[in-house]
Amino acid sequence: MHRVDKQDPILTMWTALDKLLGSNNLSGNRTMLSSISTRPLALVALLTVLTSLALPDSSFAGGHNKAPKTKKPVQLDPTLRSDITGTVLITGANRGIGLQLATNYAKRGWTVIATARKPKKADDLNALAKAHENVSVEYMDLLDHKGIDKLANKLKDIPIDVLLNNAAMLGDPAEQDFGTLDYKLMQQIYAVNTVGTMKMSEAFFEHVAASEQKKIVAITSLQASIGAMREPLIPFYKMSKTALNMGMKSTSKRVKRKKVTVALISPGAVDTRMMNSALDHAGVKGNFLITPQESAEAVINIIDQYNLKMTGTFMSHRGDVIPW
Ligand SMILES: NC(=O)c1ccc[n+]([C@@H]2O[C@H](COP(=O)([O-])OP(=O)(O)OC[C@H]3O[C@@H](n4cnc5c(N)ncnc54)[C@H](OP(=O)(O)O)[C@@H]3O)[C@@H](O)[C@H]2O)c1
Repeated sequence: MHRVDKQDPILTMWTALDKLLGSNNLSGNRTMLSSISTRPLALVALLTVLTSLALPDSSFAGGHNKAPKTKKPVQLDPTLRSDITGTVLITGANRGIGLQLATNYAKRGWTVIATARKPKKADDLNALAKAHENVSVEYMDLLDHKGIDKLANKLKDIPIDVLLNNAAMLGDPAEQDFGTLDYKLMQQIYAVNTVGTMKMSEAFFEHVAASEQKKIVAITSLQASIGAMREPLIPFYKMSKTALNMGMKSTSKRVKRKKVTVALISPGAVDTRMMNSALDHAGVKGNFLITPQESAEAVINIIDQYNLKMTGTFMSHRGDVIPW
């Protein structure tokens, strides 16, 4: 016999059904089935109640009806410098933020594998490698997947603590204005920023997994944030970085059990060729920009503090979480 008490959902169901069926006699001898069969509405009600008892809450709402757990917001300190060292591979290290990241890591005593599309013409990077024996320069183009595999194979015995996916392209902002969209450029930006970065992360995954610190970093952008979006410019670039965020977030879930951390970091608004091209198109003066040195210093400090518990979190160079 089913135990009956005040809170009992089965009793609630029977009471509701009994009312629908027009009887208050729960304990009577009347068979429910015969009554229900003459009342289709009541049958639907019975099935609905039974289903709601059998399925977890989320089944009806596709998982949307539970209040999200409130987590304490992550806040890292961009000025907190550690003395940790290891091996870092930085893409797009011949200029801009990438060159400064390579310089700062080298000065901190890391082994730096710095990549460039045209290593022979990478004068500043070659000068850095000349001055620091812990810096080597390698060819890597994000559009050249065979070349990426070749480099991964060449470095197969080298554990990489931090794979720093920095390289990216903006494309001509004028060709990204709605009304005159250049779809070839759209595909190229996606192929470099999103596909190329995913390819690098996959090709070098084992190198990272074999290391001590086990971190894959994507230098993404505040421009990727749909939540923080304010103006309609450079949509191809924005889309490529939003897609990259999703790719990296998915990867973070996939590789967490291998203890590999995936970090998404925006470097701030930095005085580089890329940023100045965007500002020129927007007709905005760049007097608010930070220097590549300020950005690189903060980004490295954030990477050092970024741990497996936070994997897949979208962080700014200031150490706070950016909305998706
Ligand atoms: N500057 C900012 O304010 C800002 C803001 C948010 C995010 N970011 C991000 O920060 C990162 C660095 O940007 P940045 O400002 O330093 O840009 P940048 O000065 O334009 O440098 C871009 C780097 O990426 C390389 N690159 C471009 N296409 C490539 C490809 N197909 N394969 C390999 N490397 C390629 C470039 O190499 P070449 O010299 O051969 O072209 C260069 O080394 C990017 O991911 C960017 O999206 C920058």
